[in-house]
Amino acid sequence: MDEKVIITIDGPAASGKGSLSKVLAQDLNLYYLETGIFYRIFAKEMLGQDHNVKQLSQVISKLKKEKIDKKLRNIENFYTNEISELASNLAKKAIVRKFVAKIQKQYLKTFPSQYRGVILEGRDCGTVIAPNADIKIFLTADLYVRAKRRFEQLNKKSKKISLESVMNDLSIRDSRDTERKLSPLKKAEDAFLLDNTEYSFLETINIVKNIIFSKIPTLKINI
Ligand code: C5P
Repeated sequence: MDEKVIITIDGPAASGKGSLSKVLAQDLNLYYLETGIFYRIFAKEMLGQDHNVKQLSQVISKLKKEKIDKKLRNIENFYTNEISELASNLAKKAIVRKFVAKIQKQYLKTFPSQYRGVILEGRDCGTVIAPNADIKIFLTADLYVRAKRRFEQLNKKSKKISLESVMNDLSIRDSRDTERKLSPLKKAEDAFLLDNTEYSFLETINIVKNIIFSKIPTLKINI
């Protein structure tokens, strides 16, 4: 197979797109590109600062790809509530989206050649970052089910947080992501819609693999 494959998985927070993409990347030898992390990195740089154009431009001018490469090696600390909240707020701003999209496209173009392609996940991968992707999936689930999954994840890490508050946070982020003017979260016209409310993680993986293999049978062959 000469051509590199591009697969996008978009969907709301806690729909399982990150975990799904990691498994697919591993099993199909694809480069995994988590697009939300770039908004998180940006948000961490902005913590405690005003969000006016001057401050935003200053952070943009300092955040070169080499610096981002370094931060990507240790991403543990980018998943706090504070950063999630700030990232989704900053993601509404044109100046931030323009900068982050440019970086994401750079990673999309320059992933290591040993991979058979790239799988990218986020909110606007199929609509804006890789509109020509070979396969697009829009993964979603009921708010309650997503909140429960996230709640269980957080509890494993012994974070003291109630199910109600997780649900509330997700609901606010959902509205912000779908209602913003720029690159809102939405299903690309040519994306497969998969609502996994009733499916286990394993079932979701199998459904998506079947979609992928029906379109690109060569990906079935291990290399
Ligand atoms: O996916 P994750 O929850 O890490 O993304 C953090 C925030 O970044 C999201 O709430 C969303 O507002 C923003 N984001 C985006 N476009 C993407 C990925 C993430 O606007 N492609």
